[in-house]
Amino acid sequence: MSKPKVLVARAIFPETIDRLAQHFEVESNQADEAWSKAQLIGKLQGKVGVFTTGSERIDAELLDACPDLKICANMAVGYNNFDTDAMTAHGVLGTNAPDVLTETTADFGFALLMATARRIAESEHFLRAGKWQKWAYDMFSGSDIHGSTLGIIGMGRIGQGIAKRGAHGFGMKVIYHNRSRLDAALEAECKASYVGKEELLKTADHVVLVVPYTPASHHTIGAAEIALMKPTATLINIARGGIVDDAALAVALRERRIAAAGLDVFEGEPKVHPDLLTVPNVVLTPHIASATVPTRKAMADLAVDNLVGYLVNGKPLTPVNPAVLAPK
Ligand code: GLV
Repeated sequence: MSKPKVLVARAIFPETIDRLAQHFEVESNQADEAWSKAQLIGKLQGKVGVFTTGSERIDAELLDACPDLKICANMAVGYNNFDTDAMTAHGVLGTNAPDVLTETTADFGFALLMATARRIAESEHFLRAGKWQKWAYDMFSGSDIHGSTLGIIGMGRIGQGIAKRGAHGFGMKVIYHNRSRLDAALEAECKASYVGKEELLKTADHVVLVVPYTPASHHTIGAAEIALMKPTATLINIARGGIVDDAALAVALRERRIAAAGLDVFEGEPKVHPDLLTVPNVVLTPHIASATVPTRKAMADLAVDNLVGYLVNGKPLTPVNPAVLAPK
């Protein structure tokens, strides 16, 4: 009997392809060619599953043109590349890759916070440029992490990981804002207090964004929100491009309305707003918060487990639109 056909949309670990090949006829993209939507649709003809990485847009237009497709397995916890309503309407399951990246991503959020508040990237560029002639009392003075107030917007698993690092490791006072309040036990574990968004922005020394991207969270931070922040504050975005109005942020950084920002995600990435590239008080990284080898392997494994789970055993592990699984 011939195996079901799946497509892997981007280059991935060879062992991931090997695992898939045990169950499926696999077409891969190990050359990591940038496929247009039309090319992706062409490649998906006859495929029942696709391994996506978070960059491939799965919408009604694509689904209409790919009638064989049954599942899209994202190797990412975020799935704003999926139009989940259209997928559900087409009977196509989406899966994501939660949990396996939580601690690694929280580590990175903290690393970016430290690098930003303590001006590590800016001072390294200064040194590499041969500009370090003498010690000076105020050279690259940043702001403290320990004992400061950490404001987290989006208190899911990654937000909680950052809260625990801040509270337990650095003695920070942790405040958070979220669509729903955590239960008391979880708040105690994270040593975090729930506050309104405005209070958080006004009182936090460091604001970390970890909310999923949805139309409702678009520009959660724009000029008006930045205006509420302390002039000494730092802003960290490890959530998604579009959560921050990057143009407004670049203006605020240039005018020192806040001290600094650390950004791992960007509106329209991999393009970066040109003004962000010229302001000194921002640390920019190319969407790498989950990028350690073990974590990226675990994410890829979970996407494979979802494809095998659904297409072979009828049981996906981490569906994002479980309505597709409901008995008809
Ligand atoms: C990365 O951004 C992810 O959503 O996993």
